[in-house]
Amino acid sequence: MMSIATYDERRGRLQTYFDKTAMTAWAHLTSDVKVSGIRQTVREGRDRMRAVFMTWLPTNMHGATLLDAGCGTGALAVATARRGSHVVAVDVAGNLVEIAKDRAPADLFPAKIDFRVGDMLSPEHGSFTDVVAMDSLIHYPMREILDVIAGLAQRTSRSINFTFAPATPLLSTMHAVGLLFPRNDRAPAIIPVSQGRLAKAIAEDQRLVDWKVGRTARIISGFYTSQAMELVRR
Ligand SMILES: C[S@@+](CC[C@H](N)C(=O)[O-])C[C@H]1O[C@@H](n2cnc3c(N)ncnc32)[C@H](O)[C@@H]1O
Repeated sequence: MMSIATYDERRGRLQTYFDKTAMTAWAHLTSDVKVSGIRQTVREGRDRMRAVFMTWLPTNMHGATLLDAGCGTGALAVATARRGSHVVAVDVAGNLVEIAKDRAPADLFPAKIDFRVGDMLSPEHGSFTDVVAMDSLIHYPMREILDVIAGLAQRTSRSINFTFAPATPLLSTMHAVGLLFPRNDRAPAIIPVSQGRLAKAIAEDQRLVDWKVGRTARIISGFYTSQAMELVRR
């Protein structure tokens, strides 16, 4: 069962962090402005990760409806809308959603992208062909990631593409994006997850019997390390 209190608490802390504490740093990281060498490695890693997601998704997305779960400043929402998908882009951090709206090209927003402030799990967002959750589940423990995926799977017909922080001996002590912002920003911890354990848990989860793990990819770029996983219908 979903541990509601824990998930809600965690989401509340992430909202405070992304909406207030790290809002400007995050806006800079996701823009073209010059950033420190360390953050530049993170930016490059995230660009590569976004490219992985775009490789996994169909080239022609006309007729598709995609949920960008934890859309942040909206780069993936724009890229998928550019391919023709209708996009519902949701983030709990309203200030980041405002930046996403400002940045979205006029030919895509509002015509193709529906930006919303809220919880990615809310059923009110509707049903989708595809879901992307890039680096938006990295602060959740494996059980909660599983609950989120199982919840989204009920409303998704084709693919769920998400990332987690891979548990490697090195990374368990040196948490990629966790080192990105100064200590006093009190970044919520990134929780490393073992890919093997996650894949096993997905295979054994009764809520995901119709799904299987598809492609996986790990991106390492300086202080950025993230593991992408694709779930597809059996
Ligand atoms: C590391 S950022 C990544 C943003 C975006 N996906 C990207 O790659 O640029 C994680 C985002 O997930 C959002 N987030 C975390 N948990 C969420 C939830 N339960 N519902 C909606 N948004 C959430 C945060 O507010 C934050 O903007």
